[in-house]
Amino acid sequence: PHVLVIGGGQNAEHDVSLGSAAGVEEALRSRGIEVTAVTVGRDGRWRHQAEPLGANAADSVVAALPLLARADVVFPAIHGPLGEDGTLAALCALTHTPVVGSGTRAGAIGMDKWATKLVAEAIGIPTAPGRLVHAGDVAGIEFDEPVVVKPVSAGSSHGVGLARDAGRLAVALRAAARHDDRILVERVVRGREIDVAVLREADGRCWAPPPLEIHADGLFDTATKYDGTARFTVPADLSDAECAALTRAALRMFDALGCAGVARVDFFLTDDGPVLNEVNTMPGMTARSQVPMMFAAAGVSYEDLVVRLVDAAMT
Ligand code: DAL
Ligand code: MG
Repeated sequence: PHVLVIGGGQNAEHDVSLGSAAGVEEALRSRGIEVTAVTVGRDGRWRHQAEPLGANAADSVVAALPLLARADVVFPAIHGPLGEDGTLAALCALTHTPVVGSGTRAGAIGMDKWATKLVAEAIGIPTAPGRLVHAGDVAGIEFDEPVVVKPVSAGSSHGVGLARDAGRLAVALRAAARHDDRILVERVVRGREIDVAVLREADGRCWAPPPLEIHADGLFDTATKYDGTARFTVPADLSDAECAALTRAALRMFDALGCAGVARVDFFLTDDGPVLNEVNTMPGMTARSQVPMMFAAAGVSYEDLVVRLVDAAMT
């Protein structure tokens, strides 16, 4: 097949997305698969071999459409809004081009931490007690416990902050509001941070490799995510019952959102069992990201994982 890999993007995860796309491109080429790579600039302009495809975002998207329509499969390796949120999947749906990963609906719901929470609660998967506030309307939030403040739509923990008092809360709300005018204020959950990957194979079977544990001092925030201080243990040291509960909850979320391809479902493992944190429908995809590490622990190499995703998209 001929695969169009799209990286970059117009949100705070631009560089992370370039890393995922570069890894995917290399993995596909190593298997002799033909790749065309395009990147989306922070300004929304699509580029092919560093050349902008148009004078502005709109012109460049129009110019990129033939590339998209000619590809056998699109691999949209863009995290965050205007990528992972279903927008690229929608473009592919309109051009009838198979796309790796979740479709428009699952991407859109997964990108929205509030909608994801409502789905989880509806199927009996606990999430942190929390409420939705709007950037312009945050007076009167009272709390007697530490809270986590997050933009409803963002990734890599951009705009996420911890607040223990009203002063810090105001700062955290302002930081979150830079990413989204809908903000989630949640009670801090005390538990181990465990990630579960779910893959939907070409034959429709969904399965989860061994979960991964994240060890970070304090918040696993944007800095610790990429400064190399967080450590991962894979497989996580879990009892059979813990592993089964986490895996079952991850598979149920994948199914409830109607995900495809691969998703990473992030939990806190508390004394009362798994509490869902979030679902990433286009999780970090460098060879050293959590998802490829979990599949490696199940005997699926990075290259095999990438090829399986392409195969699944084409069926
Ligand atoms: N949002 C980042 C890329 C992740 O899920 O790994
Ligand atoms: Mg995320």
